[in-house]
Amino acid sequence: MDGNGRWAEKRGMPRMLGHAEGGKTFKKIVRHCKDIGIKYVTLYAFSTENWKRSEEEVSGLMKLFKQHINEAKGYAKEKTRIIFLGDKAPFDSEIRSGMLELEEKSAEFDRFTVMMAMNYGGRADIVNAAKRAASMLCNKEIKPEDFDESLIGSLLYTGIAPDVDLLIRPGGERRLSNFLLWQSAYAELYFSNTLWPDFTVKELDRILEDFSARNRRFGGY
Ligand code: FPP
Repeated sequence: MDGNGRWAEKRGMPRMLGHAEGGKTFKKIVRHCKDIGIKYVTLYAFSTENWKRSEEEVSGLMKLFKQHINEAKGYAKEKTRIIFLGDKAPFDSEIRSGMLELEEKSAEFDRFTVMMAMNYGGRADIVNAAKRAASMLCNKEIKPEDFDESLIGSLLYTGIAPDVDLLIRPGGERRLSNFLLWQSAYAELYFSNTLWPDFTVKELDRILEDFSARNRRFGGY
């Protein structure tokens, strides 16, 4: 969800207002994904590097996360599974318990899953999966020959979710910035100059149309 800060700065507003506006876009886009039958949508809300931002911005973002988490607690009727990707440990106890509650209470839903990458990094995801595999090996739950792509894939934060089909980066940058590195091995990439708060359902539909016309060969021919 890139470009919130620039969106606000362009209007002479504090960066936090851009994040708040980005939160509104998040809700519209997730609602649309559900309506058109997408099964999994993942949004990058906070990276392992984002802690380096000013104290004011980090604490503002934490406040915004709390608001969204509290709001999401009232969404049970939406039958949406919510999963948080990343290490929850650095968040305060209110955010951590809110994330766990949302994950536990929505675990039974399987038609539509929203994954929120929070304190997420693609490399950290792979390291964490490798650590989990190593501890399974030490506990003799697996043997060295059991190490394969499906084992590592299943131990990533995304677990049983399928690989990424389409990765959209708004905000004008042309890079992955450590997002779902393993899971995006064969993803179709789409880069948009639109700053996230300005991103619309219409633009998403145009991108999906472009995506459906692409010829995906997965390394074959
Ligand atoms: C990146 O834009 C955006 C973030 C670091 C925060 C995104 C968070 C939200 C939209 C809030 C919604 C959260 C939830 C959990 C629903 P940037 O600050 O890097 O923008 P810039 O590139 O213009 O500086």
